[in-house]
Amino acid sequence: MHVDDTISANQALRLIHRGTALHWTGDYHNAKQLLAALGRRLPAPRSGSFHDQRQQQADRVRVLNALLVPMTNHQVELRRAPDVSKACAEAYGPPPDTHRDSSTSGSVDVRSPRERWVPLREPSTRWVPLRELLGVIGAHQLRVRGVYVPALGERIHPHYGVFAPTRSEYADLVAQHPLPFGSTAFDLGTGTGVLAAILSRRGIPQVIATDNNPRAAACARENLERLQVNAEVQETDLFPPDQADLIVCNPPWIPATPLTLLDQAVYDEDSRMLRAFLAGVRDHLKPGGEVWLLLSDLAEHLALRSRAELLSLIRAGGLQVAGRVDITPRHPRARNQEVTSLWHLK
Ligand SMILES: C[S@@+](CC[C@H](N)C(=O)[O-])C[C@H]1O[C@@H](n2cnc3c(N)ncnc32)[C@H](O)[C@@H]1O
Repeated sequence: MHVDDTISANQALRLIHRGTALHWTGDYHNAKQLLAALGRRLPAPRSGSFHDQRQQQADRVRVLNALLVPMTNHQVELRRAPDVSKACAEAYGPPPDTHRDSSTSGSVDVRSPRERWVPLREPSTRWVPLRELLGVIGAHQLRVRGVYVPALGERIHPHYGVFAPTRSEYADLVAQHPLPFGSTAFDLGTGTGVLAAILSRRGIPQVIATDNNPRAAACARENLERLQVNAEVQETDLFPPDQADLIVCNPPWIPATPLTLLDQAVYDEDSRMLRAFLAGVRDHLKPGGEVWLLLSDLAEHLALRSRAELLSLIRAGGLQVAGRVDITPRHPRARNQEVTSLWHLK
């Protein structure tokens, strides 16, 4: 149903609860205000188990995603809408109904992304949840601004859908722990490449970073190049071939089903990455080598994985705990008593 600036938040909510999607045709900023007003009318997920809270969150998102805005070739077709073409191209790829114009007059292409795409056919209008679009815009702003990582003394620029090191205590652990003897390190599940950059800056001559998410591999390559760090990025499932003196892994911390693309770097269904990592890492370790596993105990606080289970996975992988360094997360949303650890395994 088409709606505009004349609808009230209460009317909108009633329509959504009846199963109606709202196709907004009014002013862009008023649409944002309506979305905020809808959000205030919905209960924030607070009570119950982790699964109950996730269900409440999913219900909330379903309601908010019913407010749709019209988009044609990565442009919002509304009054006072900003230019979102660059943000959308980063998140979704080239606009549909276009092809890339590769003819450039010089070596540097100074055209805006909008000018670089040539229409193929009459463009069609897609209706996109405003909430999703705001996420795309936020991700673009974060990518431009970057995240300052104290352990690196530099900014890291996350791409859309790639784990951002905004809570970077774990990076401090990697920057401070004594390095083992040897010249090669792997950083498995590298995300933005932040840990590979730290390892390389600490003087390890050969660092190989892997990630199975193509967005992460591209993001890590870009960051490492910008930082002029000599590390190789491979898009692969966990391990590169060969062996290393040090293998670092910061797997997603919460063993639950990822519901969206953005969830994938945070949720690891049934601890799949953690299990595969611990089961295979010993075969990729050089004699005398070390494993550094970074993990928060958040899953334990949420009763999703016990400490005993973690220790038994470590033992089953033929590894022993040689030490553990704990750090308390500084971010304001950290759970009471949550601890992030570097598990030193041999
Ligand atoms: C919590 S993020 C950590 C990112 C980065 N290492 C950091 O510390 O900021 C986990 C990363 O593991 C990656 N990942 C998940 N499963 C993987 C697999 N089987 N092989 C390689 N990478 C994987 C995800 O794409 C994500 O980038």
